[in-house]
Amino acid sequence: MTGNSSVMQAVKLPRHVAIIMDGNGRWATQRGKRRTYGHRAGAEAVRRAITFARRNGIEALTLFAFSSENWGRPATEVSVLMELFMGVLKREVNELAANDIRLRVVGDKAAFSARLQKQIQQAEAKTAHCQTLTLNIAANYGGRWDITNAAKAMLNAVQQGTLAPDEITEDTLGQFIQLADGPAPDLLIRTGGDLRISNFLLWQLAYAELYFTEVLWPDFDDVTFVDAVNSFVIRERRFGLTSEQLQQLAGSGDLQED
Ligand code: IPE
Ligand code: IPE
Ligand code: MG
Repeated sequence: MTGNSSVMQAVKLPRHVAIIMDGNGRWATQRGKRRTYGHRAGAEAVRRAITFARRNGIEALTLFAFSSENWGRPATEVSVLMELFMGVLKREVNELAANDIRLRVVGDKAAFSARLQKQIQQAEAKTAHCQTLTLNIAANYGGRWDITNAAKAMLNAVQQGTLAPDEITEDTLGQFIQLADGPAPDLLIRTGGDLRISNFLLWQLAYAELYFTEVLWPDFDDVTFVDAVNSFVIRERRFGLTSEQLQQLAGSGDLQED
């Protein structure tokens, strides 16, 4: 980033950006190629998005790479996606560590091959100490799975006696939801033109600002990212309050951030 970065530093940036990276298949089809060609091009767009986030001081970037429903796609496409994921993890892990980027994979990892699970574990371990940017890759992730998983974990805590049933609140359940250790996404971007969440971070997106663009994921670049961030920074996030209340809180310095 060059010209835009100084402008962007003067305003309040999202701390956590989540992206539904959609449109790889259509991008390839438009070029008369197989869908998997689009997925390979999409991996390049992932690199650009990570670099942008890191350079602009975004603390966390969560990318939806493979949904729990994507297993239903043709077997060849699923296996190319798995191989691509494996290859990217292998190739990029050292560069992530060198750039102080912590990688985490969120989702039901048990469904992956033992080889891929090991690769994920190694990449997470190699970058566990990194702090500049947290990169969460949502793979075999589903928002409903996440909430169900949290409910099970919470039930387990109740059975173990570490949580009393009357201590069950939004906060206690929320502690078992994925990504609970950081701020919730401030901004959700979806590329590819569809206006839906597709079972992404259902719990965590409760108050995220949504940004939809027609741009297909392989074409996603700094310009698109800046457009999304610029759209975010001019919005008023009211969290259920009124504009007047927000102004009073801002004036009294009581407006707390998480
Ligand atoms: C997003 O692109 C990548 C994954 C879901 C893995 P798609 O493959 O969904 O591309 P379109 O939406 O069919 O164009
Ligand atoms: C959402 O895209 C999942 C990912 C980007 C990984 P899909 O292409 O699977 O979503 P739908 O099917 O259009 O809702
Ligand atoms: Mg799609």
